[in-house]
Amino acid sequence: MPEFDQKSLCPSCRKIILLPTPIGVQGIVCPHCQALYPKTEGFLDFLPPAPTGQSVAQKFMDRPRFISAYEGKYWRKSIFFAFIAGISFSHEFDLITKAADLSGTEVILDLSCGPGIYTRPWAKKLAQGFAVGLDISKPMLSYAVAKAEEEKIKNILFVHASALSIPFPDGAFDRVNFCGALHLFPHVEKVLGEIHRVMKPGGILTTASARNWLPGKLSDRIFAWYKKLGVTHFRHHELVAYFKEAGFEEINTLHAKHCLFIITAAKSS
Ligand SMILES: C[S@@+](CC[C@H](N)C(=O)[O-])C[C@H]1O[C@@H](n2cnc3c(N)ncnc32)[C@H](O)[C@@H]1O
Ligand SMILES: [Zn+2]
Repeated sequence: MPEFDQKSLCPSCRKIILLPTPIGVQGIVCPHCQALYPKTEGFLDFLPPAPTGQSVAQKFMDRPRFISAYEGKYWRKSIFFAFIAGISFSHEFDLITKAADLSGTEVILDLSCGPGIYTRPWAKKLAQGFAVGLDISKPMLSYAVAKAEEEKIKNILFVHASALSIPFPDGAFDRVNFCGALHLFPHVEKVLGEIHRVMKPGGILTTASARNWLPGKLSDRIFAWYKKLGVTHFRHHELVAYFKEAGFEEINTLHAKHCLFIITAAKSS
């Protein structure tokens, strides 16, 4: 099984620290500022203990019932979800995975990984690569860790951090997958900038995010209400502009139906 010889970025002093072999370590200490990042529940913890300023949508996602149902036939793989997204999860997964064009040697970041619905199957595809799942929700990560252990996946590491300050150095990842999450960020430009920073030149970004599909003023009213709950629905030109602004090229829209966009982009080599 490949070792993860990546470096991490200390969130406290922003200097590079070496990540130890992720399986079985108790955590890491920054050699520069001595900040301690424990690995207590199976994931490396780069965030302070108490979450602050959570949106209604985030509070909902942290609920144990939602998490245990997330991957099943009542949410992400449900007929309901396929209806509102205009595509089934299995079709979305196939489209995104094909676009990621994995050879099996990549180091990938599944950003806002949730229960690891992409992280775990992608790790299994990486015979000589490594998958990192990052999320701000501890309950989501605990679920992801337990599932990865159950499935005996070794080339995987889960980290508790914010996508707005990714604790990895520039150019660390060959691929970044960012599904079901872009619409949860009030500052889209910040998160896309962070993704661009941690991607290797020539790297591919795959995304699935909420789409504003209603025309006119009615849509603005409805989606303004969603925004208050913490979910933004984008128009196509807005999203493309955000991607371009962050420095991405080769922006391809693979799906634009009902409430979902699937968009891929590349960092120039
Ligand atoms: C709807 S889930 C998506 C899960 C999975 N990627 C998928 O495709 O189904 C959105 C995830 O984004 C995470 N999230 C929200 N804000 C975040 C942040 N600032 N940094 C990292 N993850 C965040 C949530 O905790 C949640 O697990
Ligand atoms: Zn430090």
